[in-house]
Amino acid sequence: MLIIKLNAIDSTNSYLRKLSAVEIVEDYTTVIAKKQTQGRGQMGTKWSSQTSKNLTFSVFKDVSEFCLEHPFYISVVTSLALLKTLQFFSIPRLSVKWPNDILSEDKKICGILIENVIKQNNINASIIGIGLNVNQTEFKNLPKASSLKTMTGKVFDLDEIVNKILENLEHYFLLLKKGHHDVLKKDYETYLFRKNKPSTFKDEEGMVFSGFIKGVSGSSGNLQVLLEDDIIKEFDLKTITLLY
Ligand code: BTN
Repeated sequence: MLIIKLNAIDSTNSYLRKLSAVEIVEDYTTVIAKKQTQGRGQMGTKWSSQTSKNLTFSVFKDVSEFCLEHPFYISVVTSLALLKTLQFFSIPRLSVKWPNDILSEDKKICGILIENVIKQNNINASIIGIGLNVNQTEFKNLPKASSLKTMTGKVFDLDEIVNKILENLEHYFLLLKKGHHDVLKKDYETYLFRKNKPSTFKDEEGMVFSGFIKGVSGSSGNLQVLLEDDIIKEFDLKTITLLY
């Protein structure tokens, strides 16, 4: 497995995307940067991270052999690889805020940005970008952010963590390749943040409503929410925000 270590780059996701446009990239090629000048988050947001304190890296995953009618499973596999890694390092009270923010004691410690490489109308590969807050302890204007050091008081070795994440990614992608979708979905759902708890949401029109998160749809990855009158409604990513 090729690991490319960079001092600085705009974004490790962009780096891998450009690389894959000009040459064949080996499965699990990983790009790690000490500093990103234009780190990107979900939905066009920025991802900021103190130089050398955290993990900012991307993994190129060939998914051409996978039966991927449901690209959501790439999120499931990545989230599980991170959750199991963080469990291994004894990080407390882990959960996954749908679809793939990793929380510890209800604070975000890790963000995931998955970008797909499409060839002939199919997802050929995924670029899995991971921003894991490790040894940073100050998060200005981000009251819901935290890090492994803040949660445990310990300083962590970045290489040790990244190696464990890669090992776990391989393990969970193998399960996906073997078709164990149900097992993966069940495991993922056991970590779902606010599952079966009364929660407040906002829809596309800005309407606030309450309901109970019940799970995710196996076919679309949509969030299933139990509303009044025992109705379960499914929401996709762009149509719902969990207010917490
Ligand atoms: C989020 O908004 O929660 C997703 C954040 C993803 C950040 C990572 S850092 C490494 C990779 N390169 C990027 O530009 N973004 C991802």
